[in-house]
Amino acid sequence: MSVTYNEKARQFRLRANKTDYVIAVAPGGDYLAHVRFGSAVPDRDLTYLLRLDENPFTPETNDRDRAVYLDTLPFEYPCFGIGDYRESAFKISAPDGTSACDLRYKSHKIYKGKPALEGLPATFATEKSPCDTLEITLEDKPAGLEATLIYTAFEKLDVITRSVIVKNVGDKPCTLTRVYSACVDFDTADFDMLTLNGSWARERAAERCRLHHGKQSIDSIRGESSHQNNPFAALCEHKADEDSGEVFGFNFVYSGNFIAQAEVTQHKKTRFVMGINDTDFSWLLEPGESFTAPEVVMVHSTEGLGGMSRTFHDLYRENLIRGEYKDKRRPILINNWEATYFDFNTEKLISIAKEASKLGIEMLVMDDGWFGHRDSDNSSLGDWFVYEKKLPGGLKHLVDEVNKLGMKFGIWFEPEMISPDSELFRAHPDWAIQVKGRPMTLCREQYVLDYSRKEVRDHIYSMMRKILDGANIEYIKWDMNRQLTEVGSAALPPERQKELWHRYVLGVYELMERLTSDYPHILLENCSGGGARFDPGMLYYSPQIWCSDDTDAIERLKIQYGTSMCYPCSAMGAHVSDCPNHTVGRSTPFATRGHAAMVGTFGYELDVTRIPQEDRDAIPGQIAEFNKYNALVRTGDHYRIGNMFEDNTFDAWEFVAKDKSEALFEFVQVLGRPNERSRRIRLKGLDPEAYYFREDKPEEKLSGAALMNCGINIGGLWGDFRSLIIHFIRAEHTD
Ligand code: GLA
Repeated sequence: MSVTYNEKARQFRLRANKTDYVIAVAPGGDYLAHVRFGSAVPDRDLTYLLRLDENPFTPETNDRDRAVYLDTLPFEYPCFGIGDYRESAFKISAPDGTSACDLRYKSHKIYKGKPALEGLPATFATEKSPCDTLEITLEDKPAGLEATLIYTAFEKLDVITRSVIVKNVGDKPCTLTRVYSACVDFDTADFDMLTLNGSWARERAAERCRLHHGKQSIDSIRGESSHQNNPFAALCEHKADEDSGEVFGFNFVYSGNFIAQAEVTQHKKTRFVMGINDTDFSWLLEPGESFTAPEVVMVHSTEGLGGMSRTFHDLYRENLIRGEYKDKRRPILINNWEATYFDFNTEKLISIAKEASKLGIEMLVMDDGWFGHRDSDNSSLGDWFVYEKKLPGGLKHLVDEVNKLGMKFGIWFEPEMISPDSELFRAHPDWAIQVKGRPMTLCREQYVLDYSRKEVRDHIYSMMRKILDGANIEYIKWDMNRQLTEVGSAALPPERQKELWHRYVLGVYELMERLTSDYPHILLENCSGGGARFDPGMLYYSPQIWCSDDTDAIERLKIQYGTSMCYPCSAMGAHVSDCPNHTVGRSTPFATRGHAAMVGTFGYELDVTRIPQEDRDAIPGQIAEFNKYNALVRTGDHYRIGNMFEDNTFDAWEFVAKDKSEALFEFVQVLGRPNERSRRIRLKGLDPEAYYFREDKPEEKLSGAALMNCGINIGGLWGDFRSLIIHFIRAEHTD
C-alpha cells in the first residue's frame, strides 16, 4: 500500500515511486498541515518539519500567537477569513453574507485504486500502473460543510493527484465562492516558475521566471483553457535544467477557467494553488448537495524538466487516455482545410482522396463547410445537416466513394457553437449564451450554445447522430472556435448564473462522454482554433488534439517543444502543409515538414493534386518513415535536446525505446551559419554500457556512454530549415 498512516504522529504518507507527499493533523486545532513533497525518505515521522515549536509557529498561547500560527502553518487546504492571509483555497458566502470558513480534520480512509470524479475527466488506475487513495474529510460545523480531499499516489510514477468534494451536510444553503483543487506550501521560495503561454497560432511557448515576493499567476477567464495560458505550471529549483535538478509540475485536468498561482510569503516560502478560477464563479450548495473540484496532477522530478515531462507522458498515455486508439498508430490523414478552405465539393474532395490514396494516405477528413449553407464562417453553425449544393448525392455517396478508394473518412463538427444566421438560432435564440437586454458580442461571426442545458445538448447530439449513422464515419474533429462573453443562461435562476462557466464545461464533457461511448470506433481529435484546449481534460475524451493552426515546420518546433512539457507526443496533432506556409509565409523543405510532423500524429493538410510533383513523389517515402518509427515515437521516452527559446539556430530531440534497444534522433538546422557547419550533439537516455550503431552506417559502433558524454557530429547541412534523422540500434556484439 503506497499510503500509510502513522497514528502516533497523526501523519499520512503517500509514496509515489520515489516521491513522498506527507500530511499531518497539526496540534492546536486539528488543522490539516502540509509536511513535505519531495524525494522519498525512510522516516516514519516527519512532523518536526512543521516547526511548531519555533517562533513564529507558536500555537495559541495567547490570541496574537494564534493568528500568527494560522498565518504561517503550512496548510493542505487553507480557508479564507480565519487569519491565514496567504491565498486561500476555499471561500464561501454564508446565508448571512459572511465569508469566513474553517475546515478541520474529521476523518480519513485509505483504499486501493482511485475513484472516478462524477462528470469530470480524471486519471485512473490500470493493472500496469496501479495506485492507492487517501481521502481526508474536513468539516466546518458552523457552515454545515464537509470537504473531502482526495489524494492518489501512483505506485510506479512520481505522481500524486488531488481533487476535492464539498458537501453541504447542514440544513441551510451555502454558496461556494472558491473551491480550488490543490494547495501546496513549500518550505522555500528558491524557485523559478515555468509556464506555457502564447496566443493563437503560437501556443504554449515556454517561459521561465524567478519567483519573487507577492503573487505570480497564470489563468484563463475565457471559458476554455486557452491559447494564452495552458493550465500547467512547474516550480523548478534555480539550478534545475533539462536533465537534472528538482522540479514540481502541476497540470489541471480541466478545460475551462483556471488559475495557477505561486505566492512568495513574508517568510520566503511558496504557496502554490491551482483550481477553477474564482472570477465570476459561485456555486449554490443546497443541503445534501455536493460539488466536485477537478483534478490536479502533481509530478515530482529529480531529473529536471525532462524527467518531469517523461512522467507526465507515461501517466497520460497509460492512465488518462482511453479508447480504441489509446495504444494504436493513428491513421495517416489528409485534411482539406488548408487545401480548399470553404471552397470544395464532392468532386474536389474525391479528386484529393484519389491522389492521396495512391500515395499511401489512409483517411480523408472533410473540414469546416459541409453543412447548412456554409460558404464562409458567417453562417450555419448549429445546422448539422448536409449542404447539398456542395455535396450532391449526400454524405453517404461521398463517404462510399472515399471508402472504395480504400480510405477511411472523417468529418469536422463545431458542436458548441451557433451562428446568428442559422435555422437553429432562428428557432431557439435563447439557446445562445447571453445576458438578456445586452448586445451579444460576436466572435468569428458566432455565438456559444448554452451547454448547461440538457435539451440543447440533446438536440445537437441528435443532429450529429443522424450524420454519424448515415455514413461510415471513422474520425471526428471536434472544434471550438471562440471564447465566452456575456455569460448568462436563460435556464438558470439569478443565484446560479455564476455557475454557468463550469456548467458549460460539464455539459461539454457530458456530450463527449456520450459520443465516445456510443461510437467507440470513432477516433476523436479535439481542436480549439488550433490549440486553445490542449489540456488533460480533453485528452480523457480524445487521444489526440490539434496542436496549433500554425503548421509551419519551424514555428512548430517551439509549439511542440512547449507542448511536450507535459503532453505526450502521441497526442499532438501535427500535419505537413503546403508552402509558402499560410500562417507565416515561410518556405521550408518538404522533408523538414515531414520530420516536424512525425513527432506527432502525422498527416497532410494540403491539396495533394496541386503541390509540386517532387513533393508528391516524396510522400510514400515519408509515410514509410513515419510507419517505421511511429511505435517508438508513441511509446518511447522523449528527450528534448535543443531549445529554440534559448538558441534559435537549431532544434533536436530524441525518442528512446523503454528497453533502450533503439533511439530515433531528429535534428533541424534552423538557420545555416558561416563557419559553423559542424556541431557536436550529445544524445540522452541510452544505456551507457551498451553499444549502438547507426542504421545508415552499421560499421560504426559507439557505446551509449560515448554517444551521451562525447556526442555525435552533425554536419553537411547546407541552407536554412534543413533536417535529418538518425536511427540508433543497440548492437548485439561490440566488435
Ligand atoms: C479552426 C481549426 C482549423 C479549421 C478551422 C475551420 O480554426 O483550428 O483547423 O478546422 O477552424 O473553420
